[in-house]
Amino acid sequence: MKKVRVAIIGLGNRGLHAYAACVKLYPEKMEIAAAADISPERLELTRKLYGLPESACYPSAEALLERGKIADAAFICTQDRQHFAHASRALELGYDLLLEKPISPEVEECRRLVELAEKLGRRVSVCHVLRYTPFYGELKRLIDEGAVGDVVNVQHVENVIYWHQAHSFVRGNWRNSGESSPMILQKCCHDTDLLVWLLGRRAAKVSSFGGLYEFRPERAPEGAALRCVDCPVRRDCPYDAEKIYLTNPGTGLLRGNTGWPVDVLAPEPDEPSIRRAIEEGPYGRCVYRCDNDVCDHQVVNIELEGGVTAQLTMCAFTKRGGRDTVLMGTKGQIIANLSEQMIHVLPYSGENYDVDVRKLAHDLSGHAGGDTRLVEDFLDIVSGAPESPRTTTLAQSAESHYIAFAAELSRLQGGRAVDMREFRE
Ligand SMILES: NC(=O)c1ccc[n+]([C@@H]2O[C@H](COP(=O)([O-])OP(=O)(O)OC[C@H]3O[C@@H](n4cnc5c(N)ncnc54)[C@H](O)[C@@H]3O)[C@@H](O)[C@H]2O)c1
Repeated sequence: MKKVRVAIIGLGNRGLHAYAACVKLYPEKMEIAAAADISPERLELTRKLYGLPESACYPSAEALLERGKIADAAFICTQDRQHFAHASRALELGYDLLLEKPISPEVEECRRLVELAEKLGRRVSVCHVLRYTPFYGELKRLIDEGAVGDVVNVQHVENVIYWHQAHSFVRGNWRNSGESSPMILQKCCHDTDLLVWLLGRRAAKVSSFGGLYEFRPERAPEGAALRCVDCPVRRDCPYDAEKIYLTNPGTGLLRGNTGWPVDVLAPEPDEPSIRRAIEEGPYGRCVYRCDNDVCDHQVVNIELEGGVTAQLTMCAFTKRGGRDTVLMGTKGQIIANLSEQMIHVLPYSGENYDVDVRKLAHDLSGHAGGDTRLVEDFLDIVSGAPESPRTTTLAQSAESHYIAFAAELSRLQGGRAVDMREFRE
């Protein structure tokens, strides 16, 4: 099979750490032909890590795209509100795309990109990485084989984790929906995509409630300072930046973590660079006094075509991450726990049994193994292999976005049910 030459646009956490790294995993399938970022530091790090010549490194997406089509495919990994401009230009130039989610925070831009890709006959794979995990692959297989009959209701919980909310959605890049996108789109389009894919049904009606409960000035503890380093009450605050980035087991640099989230504060993190970032940068701000507005909890009710129902809950206030999914069918029930990689199947006739996904697949790093498998699927398709059952088209991915847009509209209108047929049109 032919090696795919890719141009990686945006060398942040996704472009550099999740996707460029795949060149080491699939050297026979992928080659980095060009890379672009406005951060000279990130560009230089990518150049060093992957041995790129200077001539393959561009100081912006715009500079790279100005050169015309210089690779087979482009990976669009810039920020949410840049996706549409970068993706539509790359499509016009003839690139197939691996496009980070969301397609766009604007519903109209999503529609236009679907039309453009269809008109030009280009492949666009949106990075709905969870579809590509062995875990959801197994869940899909069980549902399709009728392990629990017809699935009539799904309860799906997205456990954000308290420090992840603070890092990304209070202090970080996705805190403000005007600058990035609403939480239900940016965080949960994965979940709405999963629900539609797992059940094989589109949404008919959507309603939603939710809001920002905790991370507001009114909720600040008495005496809290503007930055954690100056704060007299930080000892009792779970969102204290020093805890998250230095001392917490799992996330803290001093506990051996040099990857995400600390590498967001400094691309090559060490104690002085992280302390400096906490003292001076956005990640050391008090979580009660940031310019954030995205929800920290939200529920979405979905009536799917055929009268099936689903409920999605997104919540910041969890210690454990991952997703929990309970599927209730006419012949049995499935209780699935992503963080434990366990699927419990409870048929009404017959014995219960468990599927331990860790025993079925080796590498479960990077979104439970979804990141690398998504890239491999994309590389295979671009080089002519047939689509896999989990391959997403842009139009299918857009469906997950339409549900999220409808949910946000409903939430802002006090929970009014939105008819999806009218909304799509
Ligand atoms: N699929 C997933 O599960 C998943 C997970 C996290 C984030 N995301 C999405 O991926 C995208 C990137 O997220 P990230 O965490 O890598 O963010 P990031 O901020 O770490 O990376 C974005 C990069 O784009 C660069 N950039 C900005 N303007 C540019 C331009 N004009 N030309 C070239 N580069 C430019 C920035 O300097 C930065 O390095 C976001 O849209 C985010 O919502 C997806």
